[in-house]
Amino acid sequence: MLGEDGADVSTVLLAELRNALPVPLGAQLAAHEALEHFVLGGRAQDLHAATIVGVKRYHVTTFGCQMNAHDSERIKGLLEELGLGEAAGPEEADVLVFNTCTIREKPDTRLAAHLGNARVLKEADPERVIAVGGCFAEAQREHIFELYPFVDVAFGPGSISHLGDWLGAGGVGVERGSFGIAGERGFAAELPARRERSVQAWVQVSMGCNSVCAYCIVPRVRGREVSRRPGEILAEVETLARHGVKEVTLLGQNVNSYGRDLGTDFAALLEAVDAVDGIERIRFTSPHPKDFRAPVITAMAEVNAVCEHAHLPLQSGSTRILKAMRRTYGRERYLRLVGDMRAGVPDLALPTDIIVGFPGETERDFEETLEVVEEVGFDGAFTFVFSPRSGTEAATMSDQVPDEVKRERIERLVEVVQRIAQERNEERVGEVEEVLVEGPSRTDSSLLRGRTRRNTTVNFGGSAAPGELVPVLIEGATSTTLSGSQSVPVAA
Ligand code: 5AD
Ligand code: SF4
Repeated sequence: MLGEDGADVSTVLLAELRNALPVPLGAQLAAHEALEHFVLGGRAQDLHAATIVGVKRYHVTTFGCQMNAHDSERIKGLLEELGLGEAAGPEEADVLVFNTCTIREKPDTRLAAHLGNARVLKEADPERVIAVGGCFAEAQREHIFELYPFVDVAFGPGSISHLGDWLGAGGVGVERGSFGIAGERGFAAELPARRERSVQAWVQVSMGCNSVCAYCIVPRVRGREVSRRPGEILAEVETLARHGVKEVTLLGQNVNSYGRDLGTDFAALLEAVDAVDGIERIRFTSPHPKDFRAPVITAMAEVNAVCEHAHLPLQSGSTRILKAMRRTYGRERYLRLVGDMRAGVPDLALPTDIIVGFPGETERDFEETLEVVEEVGFDGAFTFVFSPRSGTEAATMSDQVPDEVKRERIERLVEVVQRIAQERNEERVGEVEEVLVEGPSRTDSSLLRGRTRRNTTVNFGGSAAPGELVPVLIEGATSTTLSGSQSVPVAA
C-alpha cells in the first residue's frame, strides 16, 4: 500500500515504465492505485513531468453536465495510465478526445465547431487520433463517421473502459473508424481518475434513467438505470476522504430512485456516506421530484453532512405541460413537495431547471411557470429553450412553438429568475456562513474562493488553506455570488 501524501519514488518509476512499455489494461490494479494515489495526492504535475518527455500527449474537451465532467476525469485517468501526458491544448496533442453532450442543439453546434478545428489539425498531422465519446457519439453511432469522416474512434458513455484498447499504445495500431462496443455498459466510476478538484469530488451512484420525459434524449443514450453497489460507492468515498476530499456530490440521472434494483434506497446511502470519516459535506444531483420521498427529506434534516441544498428540476409550472412532458407530477404536487422539504430543512437552497417553449405551451402555461418561480423563490435556475431532439417523443409533436415566441419567453423568465436569485442572496448579507475553501478567487487573487453549504460561491478576504471550513461574514451579494470576510469565532 502507498502512503497518504504524494507519490513515492516507486510511483514515478512506475509511470516511467508505463511510458516505455504500455501494459494491457485490466492487469493493472497496482498501477491503478498508484495513479489514483498520485493524482488524489494533488501531485498530478509531477506525474506529467515524469511522462511528458518523448511521450504521446492527449487533450480532452468536455461538453455538458457534471456526469460528463466526471467521465472526463476517468478518460484522462485511463489515458495517463497508458502513459500519455496531458497537452495544454488540442494543437499540441497526439490524441484528441471530445466528450460530448447532445441534450440540446447548442452543444451539437459547439461540437461541430471544435471538430472543424480538429479536422485541420488532423490534416496537418494524419497520425493524430481523433476520438469522440459521450452522448452525441452514442446518439449518432450510425452516422458519426459519415458526418465526420476524419474521426478515428467513437464510443458511448458506457464504454469508456474500452478506450484504452482502441487507442492501443497511445494511438499506434488504432482500428480506425470503429465504434465502441454496444450493449456492454460499465460504470466510469470504476476506472482510474485524474481528478480536477482537490477538496471536492463527484461520485457516480447510478447510470442511465428509467424515466420517459418526452423531451429528453438521455434514456436513449445512457440506457436503463443501474445502481452502483453501495460497497463500491463507499470504498470510493473512503479513498477520496483519505486523500483530503471534504465534499462529495453523488451523481445520477435520477438519484432518488437509487437502489431500487438492489433492494436499498437513497436515504440509506446518504447515511452510509455520512459515516465515512473526513467527509464534511454531501450533495447530490439530480433528484426527480416524483421520487423525492420522506426518508430523503428526513436524511437531509438529520444527517449532518448532507447540505441544505437540492437541485429540484421543475421543467414547467403548468400541470397540462408537465403531463405532456410525462413528468408524472403536477404544479400542486411540486409545490407540496417544496413545502415538505422546507418544513424539514428550513434553510434549504433550491435551484431548478426550466424549459420554455415545449410543444403546445401557451402564454397562459408560460405564465403559470412564472407564477411557480415567484411562489417557490428559486435560488437559481438553468433555463432552456425547448430543443427538439431526434428520437424523442416531443420532437415529432405537431404544435411546436415558434422560435421568436420561445426567445421572448426565455428573456422574461431569465429576468424573473435573476431578480429572485439576487433577492435570495441578499437575504444572506449580515449572516455568518460556513465556507469550504477551494483556493484563490478567480477574479481577484488577493481574495479566497469557497462555497457555502447552500452551494453559493463566496469570494472573501481571509487566510485559509483549500479544504478548510471557515466562518465568513457575508457583506455583499449578486444574483450568483456572495462576498465577505473571514470572521473570527468569538471565544466562549
Ligand atoms: N430541450 C431543452 N432543454 C432540455 N433539457 C433536457 N432536454 C431538453 C431539450 N430537449 C433540460 C432539462 C433538464 C436539463 C439537464 O436539460 O431542463 O433538466
Ligand atoms: Fe431526462 Fe427525465 Fe431522465 Fe432527467 S429524469 S435524464 S430529464 S428522462
